[in-house]
Amino acid sequence: MSNKESIPKHIAIVMDGNGRWAKQRLLPRSAGHREGVKSTRRIIEAAGNAGVKILTLFAFSSENWNRPKKEVSALMNLFVSSLDQEIQKLRENGVCLKFIGDKSRFNDELQVKINEAEKITASNQDFMLNIAANYGGRWDIVNASKNLFRDVLESRLNIDDVNEKTFNKYLSTFPLEEPDLFIRTAGEQRISNFLIWQLAYTELYFTDVYWPDFDEQQLQLALDYYATRKRKFGLTQEQIDKEINA
Ligand code: FPP
Repeated sequence: MSNKESIPKHIAIVMDGNGRWAKQRLLPRSAGHREGVKSTRRIIEAAGNAGVKILTLFAFSSENWNRPKKEVSALMNLFVSSLDQEIQKLRENGVCLKFIGDKSRFNDELQVKINEAEKITASNQDFMLNIAANYGGRWDIVNASKNLFRDVLESRLNIDDVNEKTFNKYLSTFPLEEPDLFIRTAGEQRISNFLIWQLAYTELYFTDVYWPDFDEQQLQLALDYYATRKRKFGLTQEQIDKEINA
């Protein structure tokens, strides 16, 4: 189970540092977000070229609503215009786009665009792109629990059949595998309520580079780091060696 030269199938990214990137250049924060979109586009392509199959990007957390009104509205406009610009390309390139999070709080225009984008890429299977928007890991678990309780109450699920595997089916990322690699840019070493259930065994990679500066070379550094990790999933090294030699 040594990961030498192995490519993570699923990468989850907290794209942090747009604001600081802009501040460094005496630009408004919105300029940092616009540059962040360029970086996002670049990394989706680079990840696909590297053989990654699933990318989950934290675009807007449940807590981000508390930012200044002007910034929230600039971000919403950016999401709408990015969807308009990118959706055909994503469709042609075999990308299946899915939004995870509580979409109900977005304005009608954005909700319509999100639904359309999901619909027209739904049958694509080459690359799965999850955008976490108005997402929180605790929300995901609570939402899953509510749906699970409903199924138990309405006799679609037996309480004795509830285990980690069944619970997982109610999470927003189902049926995708859990992330193999988590990347956070801009220096903070926190999960910040991202995929807290799904990251249980994920390798964590932190870099000081701001998201707008996170390019193909930076992604390669993260992949190189991943390739040096030995994932044990709670087993001993001896058990793993035995499995490899079996
Ligand atoms: C973090 O930087 C970034 C965000 C809160 C928004 C992320 C959005 C994008 C990168 C736009 C592209 C995404 C899509 C899906 C089109 P920050 O503002 O927290 O930076 P700071 O910590 O330096 O202030």
